Amino acid sequence: MSGHEFQSHFDDPAAPGAGDIDHSDMSTNIDETTIAEMRQIAARYPQKRSALLPMLHLVQSVDGRISPRGIEACAQVLDITTAQVSGVATFYTMYKRRPAGKHHVGVCTTALCAVMGGDILLDRMEKKLGIGENQTTPDGQISLERLECNAACDFAPVMMVNWEFMDNMTPEKADELIDKLRNDEEVHSTRGAQITSWREAERVLAGFPDGLADEGPTAGPASLVGLEIAHNEGWTAPDPNNLPVNPAPEEGKQQ
Ligand code: FES
Repeated sequence: MSGHEFQSHFDDPAAPGAGDIDHSDMSTNIDETTIAEMRQIAARYPQKRSALLPMLHLVQSVDGRISPRGIEACAQVLDITTAQVSGVATFYTMYKRRPAGKHHVGVCTTALCAVMGGDILLDRMEKKLGIGENQTTPDGQISLERLECNAACDFAPVMMVNWEFMDNMTPEKADELIDKLRNDEEVHSTRGAQITSWREAERVLAGFPDGLADEGPTAGPASLVGLEIAHNEGWTAPDPNNLPVNPAPEEGKQQ
C-alpha cells in the first residue's frame, strides 16, 4: 500500500468494535432486573425509542459487549425490530461487538494530539500491552482503541480510561498508568474522578450515576484561562434579557 492510500482502522471483523454482532456467543447476564432497568430508562423519554442509546450502554454494563440477548431485550422493551437495534449498535464505535476488557484505554491521535505525540503513545501502548488497536489483552484486563478528538485539545496529548480524561500524557506517565490499572491500584483521572471499570462507566452512561461525577477539580487549568482573563479584565457575559437588537436591513440592500 502506498503511503497516500487511506487505511481503514475498522477492517478487522474480530476487533471489539468491528464486524457484526457476534451470534456465536449467546452468553448473557441480562435478567429481570436488567429488563426492569431498561423499562425505567425508556420511561424517561416521551418517545420510548429515544432510550435506545442509554439502553445499549446498560447492555454493555451487564454483558461487557452488545450481546444478541441485549439486542433482543432492547427490541422487546421498545417495540422495535432487532434489525433496528442492530443498525444503531453497529453504527457507533462506543458499542462493542466483542467483549471489552476490564478497562478501556483510548489514545487520541487526531491533529493536535498527533502533533503532541499521540501516535507515539499509541505505539508505546501497543508494545507494552502486546496488542493492536481494537484488541483486548488475553487476560481480559485492558482494551486499546485509537480515539478521534475528545474535545480536550488544550490538554494534548490526551488518553482516556473508561471515558475519563488523562490529560497531558507522556510515554512514562502512560506506562505508569497501565501498570497501576493492571495491579488494581487506585487511579484518578487528571480531572479528579476515581477510575472504576469500563462496565461501571457504561452503567453511568446508561443514566445510573455512581456519585463520582463531581470528584476533584473537574476542569483543568487550561480550560479556565479564558475565565481568568475575563475576571481580570472585568468582562461579563451580556444580559440575555437585554441583548442589542440588530438594525433591520435597508430595503433592496443585501445582508
Ligand atoms: S486532538 Fe486530541 S483531544 Fe482534540
